[in-house]
Amino acid sequence: ASTPYLRVTPSMLRRQTGRKGKDAWMALSGKVYNVTPYAKFHPGGIPELMRGAARDGTRLFGEVHPWVNYENMLTACLVGILVDEPEPSA
Ligand code: HEM
Repeated sequence: ASTPYLRVTPSMLRRQTGRKGKDAWMALSGKVYNVTPYAKFHPGGIPELMRGAARDGTRLFGEVHPWVNYENMLTACLVGILVDEPEPSA
């Protein structure tokens, strides 16, 4: 079953480090994934994967393995879309 996209701000993303009982989230090309369930399957190992945790991992990912089809691999891990921080209201 699919759930509606969550709108994830950079400050929400920064809290999802994979530590202190929180899942690890990673933004890739504007989409945000919960990579915690995938971590133990990552061929490059958990520490390498976690270099992209709690932030936009697009550049790192592309430097290491631009050929990897993460969209297919992480369909079930999709959390939402990365959006800008809302403007503080006056
Ligand atoms: C290897 C998936 C994020 C570092 C791989 C491979 C896959 C994969 C499928 C094997 C590729 C191959 O042999 O052709 C993913 C997915 C990611 C992700 C789905 C996002 C959720 C990252 C990040 C890094 C990273 C952020 C950080 C630097 C590596 C490294 C290897 C690797 C170093 C090479 C392992 C080796 O061949 O010894 N990854 N990766 N990955 N990944 Fe990732």
